Amino acid sequence: VKDQYILGIETSCDETAAAIIKNGHEIVSNVVASQIESHKRFGGVVPEIASRHHVEEITLVLEETMKKANLTFSDLNAIAVTEGPGLVGALLIGINAAKALAFAHNVPLIGVHHIAGHIYANAIVTELKFPLITLVVSGGHTELVYMKDHGSFEVIGETLDDAAGEAYDKVARTLNLPYPGGPHIDRLAQEGKATIKLPRAWLEEGSYNFSFSGLKSAVINTLHNAKQKGEEINPQDLAASFQASVIDVLVTKTKRATEEYKVKQVLLAGGVAANRGLREALHAQFDDKSDIQLVIPPISLCTDNAAMIAAAGSVLYEKEIFSDLKMNGNPGLEL
Ligand code: KG4
Ligand code: ZN
Repeated sequence: VKDQYILGIETSCDETAAAIIKNGHEIVSNVVASQIESHKRFGGVVPEIASRHHVEEITLVLEETMKKANLTFSDLNAIAVTEGPGLVGALLIGINAAKALAFAHNVPLIGVHHIAGHIYANAIVTELKFPLITLVVSGGHTELVYMKDHGSFEVIGETLDDAAGEAYDKVARTLNLPYPGGPHIDRLAQEGKATIKLPRAWLEEGSYNFSFSGLKSAVINTLHNAKQKGEEINPQDLAASFQASVIDVLVTKTKRATEEYKVKQVLLAGGVAANRGLREALHAQFDDKSDIQLVIPPISLCTDNAAMIAAAGSVLYEKEIFSDLKMNGNPGLEL
């Protein structure tokens, strides 16, 4: 049989990325141009700046991706691109590049959901075995997703307010740490002790939903109250306490979901999957003796990239679920 090559393109937020995946799981080339430096001084992603960077980078990133793969566009079976969710102006840069290539080279165009991409980063590492549960934790999303087969996604729980990464970034900002704050909190947390009492939002009995805004407010209040009383708060201990609360809720709910849904695998996805505390806590819950296989992609495949988009696109290619050239960026696309 002939090898299958899918080009993936991802521009939903602040990384301009392209990658080629062979036969659904093998990385042939994977290029990511990060804009983080340009957004840092604003403390978050500025949509207009993101779009402008994508315009500048997209052709260079595509050229590099093809060159590293040592392939030509005529070798491609399809072009997969993030259709949403994300910043609409940013999405459109990748979508328009994908449309132009698909049209010019007469190959199918495939719209991919960004979170499906994050989940399929795991398929690059391991063969997926169903049923499975994925804990998706990124800057924009916190979800537990049940899958009974390829391409079938059931969101069994999600955040009612802030995403986990968003909470990390906001807490980091109150501690005057640079954007994105997640890795900085993670580092501080390793140096501190979780001695400060902070809330855990379990929500109603049996719920798989999450809420992190109360926790974020509790951190801000703790700092504020200490300041008013002239007391010192150890930032390491505060980071460790915050991280302990986030991880406790994430891991407990994930564990319960894997039992209720009798899964074979539990996957971790999204930028917060880089968190050392979260990785350790999951490894402790799903150790070698567990019947459930824990899969965690390497950090470079957890943060935004296009290899994951190509991997998710490969499943849609097999099912012949193609998009047409009228595709639009969809900031609120449902999984
Ligand atoms: O998936 P991602 O790259 O972009 C989105 O699609 O949102 O996730 C970015 C998020 C940011 O909020 C960042 O602070 C967080 O992932 N993050 C972390 C760590 N590394 C990145 N959060 C906690 N601990 C980390 N080590
Ligand atoms: Zn993402």
